[in-house]
This record gives sequence, structure tokens and C-alpha cells, in this order.
Amino acid sequence: MTILVAGGAGYIGSHTAKELAREGFDVLVFDDLSSGRREHVRGRPFLQGDLMDREAVQAAFRGRTIEAVFHFAGLIQVGESYADPRKYYTHNLLSTLNLLDAMLEAGVSKLIFSSSAAVYGAPRETPIPESHPLDPANPYGRTKAMIERILEDYDRAYGLRSISLRYFNAAGADPDGEMGETHDPETHLVPNILKSLLGTAPRLGVFGGDFPTPDGTAIRDYIHVTDLAAAHVLALKALLRGGASAAVNLGTNTGCSVLEVIRRAEAVTGRPVPYDIRPRRKGDVAILLASKEKAEELLGWKPALSSLETIIATAWSWHRRNG
Ligand code: UFG
Repeated sequence: MTILVAGGAGYIGSHTAKELAREGFDVLVFDDLSSGRREHVRGRPFLQGDLMDREAVQAAFRGRTIEAVFHFAGLIQVGESYADPRKYYTHNLLSTLNLLDAMLEAGVSKLIFSSSAAVYGAPRETPIPESHPLDPANPYGRTKAMIERILEDYDRAYGLRSISLRYFNAAGADPDGEMGETHDPETHLVPNILKSLLGTAPRLGVFGGDFPTPDGTAIRDYIHVTDLAAAHVLALKALLRGGASAAVNLGTNTGCSVLEVIRRAEAVTGRPVPYDIRPRRKGDVAILLASKEKAEELLGWKPALSSLETIIATAWSWHRRNG
């Protein structure tokens, strides 16, 4: 049973491809390597291609039986999406429509989609349940919410079943050290802390010290990337069992502030983190926590590696060797 993993050379995609292979699925990674890394494919079957290229996407389905598709390939930088919304709407929407067209033409009816907590916008309640209104605050989040709506329509009209997984804060690295987190530019907290320790990034900026939280810094729900990968495989199994389309949060309902993450990184690495408190980043909210009941009930998912300590220890081990 072949599973097409679009964006399978990227951070979450490559960890999920590994988990799929471990569970006995045949994986075909499709990635244009614009942000993914060839070495993260780890010798699995690989097609280099761009989802914006309709012909290349359709060709990926020819001559093989694809049972289901994972869609990780998308632009993800919130700040860039404010500055260049055209890029985000064009890329994220058209590439998804091309992928969906190719699936329909090939008769493939199961999709796991990488969505985001960004679909909710500023939370009206905490932790955030999946029933919370979708009111994204930036163009990046709007592309994710629009795609979720498209998927609902495609299910009703064409029977294409999908599970949209709304990630909270993915972090950490493969415990075997095969893959880790790297973006260019890097905007995420954990890699930026570790890079500042390794001297491969400048002094860390802490964006906002005046949030209404106990220490004034923003609180997020950090989740280990291997736990995320396991949830993707469970979502696939739910669709293979005949389960209905759904949107599911992936988070732990455990919050850590930016300063707590820094303190834990200092404890794990034994080094002081050089940082300054800087102004808030546009659009950042004080607290983002996932309600996790639906993932537990629908997928039977229990995060095993998402303590802050394990997240930082695995990320540190990868960054030190791949810094
Ligand atoms: N932060 C810093 N310094 C840094 C990087 C981050 O202080 O160098 C802070 C941020 O301001 C935020 C927290 O650390 O308070 C986490 O920031 P990240 O950039 O790691 O993650 P976000 O919570 O901003 O973003 C995540 C996903 C997005 C998604 C969003 C949901 O990465 O894709 O959650 O709103 F859109």
C-alpha cells in the first residue's frame, strides 16, 4: 500500500515518512526541496517535483496504486505571509488544488492535511476546542482555514475523506538523530535558542515581555515532532477503517512560557542562553493551548515524548551534530 507524502523532505513530513515506514507502509516522498532536505528522505523512494506543476503532480500518481496522500507541502512563515499575501494564497491554495485534482483523477480518496492552530486566530477560550470559530489572524492561517473548507466541500461532492491536523507548536527532533528542525530563515523558538547557544544565530530575541502571563512571556503548547508523526499514522488508520472526515488539534494542553523554555534549555545543555526582551511580534497572542480530548478519542493518540525536557534534549542532540 503506497502512501504519497507531499512535503516528505520537510520537518514534520520527514518524521512522519519515517513513522509510516516503521509501521510497514510503502512511502513515496514527493518534494521540490525548496525548504525540505534531501538527506531527510533517508533513502526512501523519492520524486523531486513541485505541487504547482500540475503535470508533475499527475505523473506522480501514474503507474502506481496510491492508497492515501499526506499533504505537508506549504509555505509556513506567518511574518512573510503578512508581507507577501499573494505568494501565500497563490502557492498554498493552487498547490493543494493541483494535488486534489490529481487525487480525484487517480481515484484516491483519503488525505491527511497539515493544518495549524493558526486557523483559530486569537483564542476566545482556553484550551481551544476544535469547535472554536475559525477566525485566522494572518494570511498564512487563512490559507489553512480555506483549505479546510475546500476539503469539506470535496468530501460532500466527491467523497474525498480527509483529516486536517491542527498543529500547535511542533518542536524536537527524531530520537535516533536522523532528522531535525531547520528552516531558512528560522523563526521558531526552540531551534533559535539552540542556534544562539551554538553561535550559529545571533543573540536570542524574546518577543514580548509584557503579555498577561505569570512571567510576561507568551505561553505555547509544545509537542514533540515524533508524537505528531505518530498522530498522522493514527489518522491514516482511522481513514483506512472507514472513519469520517474530521479536523483534530494536535497539542498537549500543557503550556510553557518562552522564559520557561529558555530555562529548560539551559538545564539540558548546561549553558546560559544569551537573550534580550524585544517588542512583541505582529499577531502573537499571549496563550495558545490545545484541547486534546478529540485526538485522544478519535485517534487513540497519547503523546509520549512531549515533555519539554525530551523536546529540547532531542533537538539539542540533532543541532549539535548538524548545526
Ligand atoms: N519566540 C521568541 N523568539 C524567537 C522565536 C519565537 O521569543 O526567536 C516566541 C514567539 O514570539 C512565541 C513563541 O516564542 O511567543 C513561539 O514562537 P514560534 O515562532 O516557535 O511559534 P508560534 O507559536 O509563533 O507559531 C506556531 C507555528 C505556526 C502557527 C502558530 C499558530 O509555528 O505555524 O503556531 O498560531 F501558525
